[in-house]
Amino acid sequence: MTSTVIAVVNQKGGTGKTTVTMNLAAGLARRGRTLVVDGDPQGSAGQWARMAPEDRPFPASVFAVAGPLDRELKALRRDFDFIVVDCPPTLEGGTVAGALASSDRVLIPVLPSPMDLWGSVRMGRSLDEAKAANPGLKPSIVVNQVEMRSALSRAMKGALMEIDIPALGQHLRRRAIYRRAALEGSSVYDLGKPGLAAAAEIDAIIDEVLA
Ligand SMILES: Nc1ncnc2c1ncn2[C@@H]1O[C@H](COP(=O)(O)OP(=O)(O)O)[C@@H](O)[C@H]1O
Ligand SMILES: [Mg+2]
Repeated sequence: MTSTVIAVVNQKGGTGKTTVTMNLAAGLARRGRTLVVDGDPQGSAGQWARMAPEDRPFPASVFAVAGPLDRELKALRRDFDFIVVDCPPTLEGGTVAGALASSDRVLIPVLPSPMDLWGSVRMGRSLDEAKAANPGLKPSIVVNQVEMRSALSRAMKGALMEIDIPALGQHLRRRAIYRRAALEGSSVYDLGKPGLAAAAEIDAIIDEVLA
């Protein structure tokens, strides 16, 4: 099996990068050897994993990398089937550029409003540059924190159609269980029945990303 590296990127904070990274990694860990690379100097992926109780460790290791990631990722590919890279909320410092240069997929979590979407896709130029050097790179938007009872607004659907980065068909709903998973150093896969719907969402995203 060749390895798949997924970079989770958005230059805005609070859009769900770490939440997507950790739950995706937990889902991927059920399918193969999985590593989280914590590329955010704030270290929130590492902190998340350290919240886990000793008798129930987070299902993937978290490896903190400061600065450019390209060389590290190349080496780590040998030992893992899946690597998920949690990126810092900035395009400066070379971390995102390094991640984009050596990833197979890019997931861009965005909040479900056109304003947030436009703020998020200002990274379009970085993606174009990365694709020039890494033509296989496949970016997708994943809409996060969709309200339970409402589908995407017509304005958001229109905005998604106007930009040239495709959105995954599966969205993530706003669910308290995602916050709980972070507090417990766990994932929606390990929180019993209340996590089932969220785990199904994450599984569907994994299927789309690996397709
Ligand atoms: N789908 C969701 N449902 C509920 N809360 C969420 C969801 N996604 C993210 N959050 C919460 O939103 C906040 C920001 O998410 P986070 O993953 O830390 O974003 P980022 O890493 O992009 O800064 C966190 O408190 C997180 O628990
Ligand atoms: Mg984060």
